[in-house]
Amino acid sequence: MYKIAVLKGDGIGPEIVDESLRVLDYIATRFEMEFEITEANFGGSAIDKEGHPFPVTTQKIIDQSDAILLGAVGGPKWENAAIRPEKGLLSLRKYLNAYCNIRPIICFDPLKEMSPIKLDQDRKVDICFVRELTGGIYFGKKGIKESEDTYAYDVEAYSVSEVKRISRRAFDLSLSRDKRVTSVDKSNVLESSKLWRREVISNSKDYDVVLDHMYVDNAAMQLIKNPYQFDVILTNNIFGDILSDEASVLAGSIGVLPSASVGDKKALYEPIHGSAPDIAGQGKANPIGMILSVAMMLDNSFNRKDVYNFIYEAIEKTLKLGYGTIDLNLKYIHTTSEWTNQLIETMEKTE
Ligand code: IPM
Ligand code: MG
Repeated sequence: MYKIAVLKGDGIGPEIVDESLRVLDYIATRFEMEFEITEANFGGSAIDKEGHPFPVTTQKIIDQSDAILLGAVGGPKWENAAIRPEKGLLSLRKYLNAYCNIRPIICFDPLKEMSPIKLDQDRKVDICFVRELTGGIYFGKKGIKESEDTYAYDVEAYSVSEVKRISRRAFDLSLSRDKRVTSVDKSNVLESSKLWRREVISNSKDYDVVLDHMYVDNAAMQLIKNPYQFDVILTNNIFGDILSDEASVLAGSIGVLPSASVGDKKALYEPIHGSAPDIAGQGKANPIGMILSVAMMLDNSFNRKDVYNFIYEAIEKTLKLGYGTIDLNLKYIHTTSEWTNQLIETMEKTE
């Protein structure tokens, strides 16, 4: 029996999580697995209910779980909150020591035409980001100094041990892929990047992988110019945040992309998209990123690569049949839950 903490969060979070749990239900029956789901408040909705985006009650539920599923957090309603929902998310990642964020840019064939980037018909983009998630500028010293010319600051800093553990994760992952790692930095300007590059090189010596380095500005261009050149892209926290959103354009919609945040303990699974408050509650959300996050959980936390593959293939089949949500320009436009019905039907028809 696997215990799963479920944090639906804000905006479209609850809708996509609900649909992904219906898929998990089907998986439980089909593969004879048992899951115990416990919901907990998180993000803006937790501010409303418990006065904090990451309340102690949620912490306790997480402590007792084997893995965590998260929808999305944030929205205009909490823009001026004392502690914003986004801060709750950063605290959760830190709490779990989930320093390694794995973001595969999954490009389903039926969505190729949806990308505004001209893609090669016979080649497949297959990139996986390994983003450092609990350090760097998002967690550095920050503040505002009121004066005649008031200024604010955020410090980007990395230690040797932080770079070591994330780079080794990237090299390890690349071994099960094409054994190529591109490390992104800005070492022509930043001290923190100089240390980053030095440590990445030093750790690469223990691996039989091809390592290259790219300045982040060039990487932003290369992703669009020639995305086929990349296998694993290793980044610090902020560069990975920005570049993974950019790369999502190659997949056709940010709505289809999942992520896993892993560390030494239990892992957190969430789609890379945000809470999309403008379309919340209208059945317009794409549940695929969330469903694939569930699939990543089954593979990574529960060792069921076979179930991951089963879900992945069913999603691809459903898209091939022309079923999509409103962000996908496919033949049939479905609501969030209609699309999930279609997916489950596809699964039922698969032997
Ligand atoms: C993401 C998000 C978060 C981040 C925000 C919501 C704090 O953009 O997961 O990419 O910057 O990490
Ligand atoms: Mg982001």
